Amino acid sequence: IEAILGSGPLAGRHAIVTSGPTIEPIDPVRYISNRSSGRQGHAIAAALAELGAEVTLISGPVALADPAGCRVVRVESAMQMLNAARSALPADIAVCTAAVADWSVVNRSTEKRKKKIGEAPPVIELGPNPDILATLSRAETARPRLVIGFAAETQALIENARDKRQRKGCDWIVANDVSEGSESFGGESNTVYLIDETGVEDWPRMSKLEIARRLARRIATVFAS
Ligand code: CTP
Ligand code: CA
Repeated sequence: IEAILGSGPLAGRHAIVTSGPTIEPIDPVRYISNRSSGRQGHAIAAALAELGAEVTLISGPVALADPAGCRVVRVESAMQMLNAARSALPADIAVCTAAVADWSVVNRSTEKRKKKIGEAPPVIELGPNPDILATLSRAETARPRLVIGFAAETQALIENARDKRQRKGCDWIVANDVSEGSESFGGESNTVYLIDETGVEDWPRMSKLEIARRLARRIATVFAS
């Protein structure tokens, strides 16, 4: 209701949220990608909209309905995601939850590669993808006031996440334990830590929806002052 009335603590604020995986084509029928349901990112977009924000959700291919109250931009590759994020600026808030493929296929073929009996399998040559979170964090013009990244780690969670926060230049990192047995991927709930300039907040295990709402409320406190 707040979103409909244009009120709520984030009314008048624009948020960019990236969500889902990116896919990087090998040829017209094959691609490499990352594991990501898009659930967490879509929930964050919805939670920000519920608090009155104008939300641009930039999503890779996911099997999810568009969240209510968001402008959804659908993309496939990391390069397309970056371009969409840049086009969506200016924004007050950027939350990068997308599982962006770290590499794209340099020797991608415009025709379908055919198997040839007796021939060695093709070699896929990878090149680096742009870093959307780092690009937004270090934007010289129109840097969003609050830039938030996610860090999915299987080991040394806090250490790696702290390091990532520094390296990317973002304000907050939500660190997510995806080690075996943590049941984060594709599941309904998550154990996360919020790392900001002051330290590490340990959040209890909760659903992705609850994490989204809690993060949105915490974002709202920044804009309350
Ligand atoms: N990210 C991004 N663009 C990329 C890679 C990552 O925007 N090309 C963002 C993700 O959305 C996430 C954060 O950066 O918010 C961390 O992603 P992650 O894959 O954990 O970081 P990387 O720097 O790619 O490091 P790693 O080697 O651990 O994959
Ligand atoms: Ca990565």
